[in-house]
Amino acid sequence: MQLQGTIQVDTNGHLVVGGCDTVELAAEFGTPLYVIDEARLRQMARRYRSSFNNYYPDTKVAYAGKAMLTLAICKIIESEGLYLDVVSGGELYTAIKADFPMEKILFHGNNKSTDELALALDHRVGRIVVDNFYELQLLAQLAADRDQVVDVLLRISPGVEAHTHSYIQTGQLDSKFGFAIAHDVALKAVELALKSSHLNLKGIHCHIGSQIFDISSFVPTVERMLGLVKDIAQTFNYPVSEVDLGGGLGIRYQQGDTPVGPEALAQLIATEVDRVSSDLGIPRPTLIVEPGRSIVGEAGLTLYTVGSIKDIPGIRRYVAVDGGMNDNPRVALYQARYEAVVANRMHAAKEATVSIAGKCCESGDMLIHDIELPHLHPGDILAVFSTGAYNYSMASNYNRLPRPAVVLVSNGQADLIVKRETYEDLIRLDLIPQRLQKDSAVTTGRE
Ligand code: LLP
Repeated sequence: MQLQGTIQVDTNGHLVVGGCDTVELAAEFGTPLYVIDEARLRQMARRYRSSFNNYYPDTKVAYAGKAMLTLAICKIIESEGLYLDVVSGGELYTAIKADFPMEKILFHGNNKSTDELALALDHRVGRIVVDNFYELQLLAQLAADRDQVVDVLLRISPGVEAHTHSYIQTGQLDSKFGFAIAHDVALKAVELALKSSHLNLKGIHCHIGSQIFDISSFVPTVERMLGLVKDIAQTFNYPVSEVDLGGGLGIRYQQGDTPVGPEALAQLIATEVDRVSSDLGIPRPTLIVEPGRSIVGEAGLTLYTVGSIKDIPGIRRYVAVDGGMNDNPRVALYQARYEAVVANRMHAAKEATVSIAGKCCESGDMLIHDIELPHLHPGDILAVFSTGAYNYSMASNYNRLPRPAVVLVSNGQADLIVKRETYEDLIRLDLIPQRLQKDSAVTTGRE
């Protein structure tokens, strides 16, 4: 695998990221360990801002926090001047606690609770992206009760299929998200939004899918979304000025992946928005884009320690590491493919094709199915690349494994931004009802 960005190899043959020796990181912070390269994350944020500034200056770039959100990440995103897309009360709470500017928050979700909406109203978040009729009514009522006016976008299901894994396609008609353009559902939602004096309809939003390499799906998306802007103008004599096209750009997980950069995306979107607005005779809207994976994905890697190795002669060699589907469920969920290196012996020659297994009690708990690597020994440090997005944020405690720590590396400095969970953390919220306590066995007559 060709190493990129701030990833290097030092004279000891150790993998270095953000100026830090990954073998030392593993020794100091333990494994599994998520490592985030701050320079790389910032570089992507800047590429997004400058690309859109270049091709379509009236664009707000919002980082999609579902990819990876912590207090420190909020600080970086804020300092890069990005907006932030949150999708739950928990993500919103993280942003609140990080003092993220609330007017730069977009709040998504297909089933926001009353409490979540109330939290968003309390903090006057910039935009609430209303997903469905239930929420439209609920939010209008909550805002009316407080005599507050809230700026909203409507989530639209444009009926466009992105060319990606079916689990992460979101824009097609048969989707749990949004108001369909088909059958005038979206127009009905607009009508209801306009009826409420507490909802200020600013625009429309869509998100067609994730890990997209073929960006041509954005062409029909722009056509349909701007077509809807025109229909809204004609039907209600109402100008919606903001069009949010969501996120979705793919990243490089393995050799041969050829993701499209933000420059090409910005150029395509700008060209299409210009063309379609002029064809339809509507003003050019303010654009919003919401990249998540492409900002943080390649900035992350995960360090593991090799443990047991099982040879099945003529069939397969399983090399087990100290993490697995609990820190990276993407392999089991989406057949995602990753690449890895032996971080403590970068110059060692590749020797055999092996499979990297996790340590969960489940056969499907594999990290990499077939990869050519040097001969591995227990204690080797394995670095898996491109784990910055949808790894930490999707981690679980399956098998009661504590979730890994997250370290931010920059210019040779390593800072812990999420502590490793402890066994104590695992039972912190557990309770034993009185009747199951030892003393109560006597009173209930049970031994
Ligand atoms: N905006 C909205 C409304 C979204 O639903 C998403 C992702 C994004 C933005 C950011 O998309 P991105 O730029 O990261 O592709 N867990 C899956 C990905 C799910 C994506 C969900 N929505 C995975 O690990 O591949």
